Amino acid sequence: MNLRDLQLRNFRCFASYAAEFAPGFNFIVGPNGRGKTTLLEAACVLLRLQSQRSTNLAPALRLGERSFVLVGHASDHRLQFYYSALRRKVAFDGVEQRDLAEYLSLARVVSFANHDLDLVRGPAELRRRYLDFIGAQIDVRYRPALRAYERALRSRNALLKSAHPRPRELAAYTEPLVRSGNLLRELRSAIVRRLAPRAAESQRQIGGGQEMLGLEYAPGSEEDFAAQLARARAEETRLRLTTVGPHRDDLRLLVEGRPAAPFASEGQQRTTALALKLAQAQIFAENFGAPPLLLIDDIFGELDAARRNALLGCLPNEAQKLVTATSLAWREGNLEGPILRL
Ligand SMILES: Nc1ncnc2c1ncn2[C@@H]1O[C@H](COP(=O)(O)OP(=O)(O)O)[C@@H](O)[C@H]1O
Ligand SMILES: [Mg+2]
Repeated sequence: MNLRDLQLRNFRCFASYAAEFAPGFNFIVGPNGRGKTTLLEAACVLLRLQSQRSTNLAPALRLGERSFVLVGHASDHRLQFYYSALRRKVAFDGVEQRDLAEYLSLARVVSFANHDLDLVRGPAELRRRYLDFIGAQIDVRYRPALRAYERALRSRNALLKSAHPRPRELAAYTEPLVRSGNLLRELRSAIVRRLAPRAAESQRQIGGGQEMLGLEYAPGSEEDFAAQLARARAEETRLRLTTVGPHRDDLRLLVEGRPAAPFASEGQQRTTALALKLAQAQIFAENFGAPPLLLIDDIFGELDAARRNALLGCLPNEAQKLVTATSLAWREGNLEGPILRL
């Protein structure tokens, strides 16, 4: 998959803009605030219909405008996305799509940015979202299981908040909660099993062979989720919410056997964040037989030369890469690719 070109209309700072991209490395260079991140975001939105920087697309509307349009060519297909508060329209080779399956099957995207450090340092919710983002793209059962779980959890919690939750009603929500929760736990656990060796290998390579990274799935529910829920009834009544389950899952990150946050150094933590994204890219490449588009936003300035070069060495060779930076002073001679100046 190669993104050949991209046209933006009324997307954030761009009233109208067009760019072309080559296979392999593409460098997007310019001072702060010129729209480098915006260009990567537009690529992500066009290919995946979601932004790597916000959960909702409304902020991407250029101020004062009511709609934006993105158009581009990827692997000889023409993709179009029209967005307004009232309506979204997706077209594949000029044909409007109702079912998005074919459109979304074209490309996967992995984004690398400085805020990935939050995956290591931030709350468990971010690591669950990381697993969810992978799961939804590699297993058709994932998104329905997650939706069903979230729905059951919301209803069950609403009931627990009411004055006198009736046991019969509670049981009606407990059943789908347990069913979807068990599937979710199984799917997340399988993803972590696949990620772990790949992330460990990436950490070793970028960290210069010194750093041992361990990934462990820390489920928020026990093997027998139903029995655990039954035991938690008294506590649930007191706290008025569901206290155990996959909404309490975490992905434990261990550097040299100790929690990456707070024990690992800043450099090690940055390496771990990169290793998680590299592992994700590998899994996508294995599942789909083609590497994902890599969006690499402004991270090279933050890495020391050794880690930077090691990271560059870890990026899948065949993958197309859009790399933003304020300058190219860090670039070594062997990194060829067109430069787009903003
Ligand atoms: N919805 C919007 N409408 C208009 N301008 C926006 C919108 N959202 C962001 N911007 C502006 O777009 C500019 C480019 O942002 P960004 O892509 O983050 O720049 P860079 O990555 O080059 O530093 C910023 O100046 C920002 O204020
Ligand atoms: Mg930026």
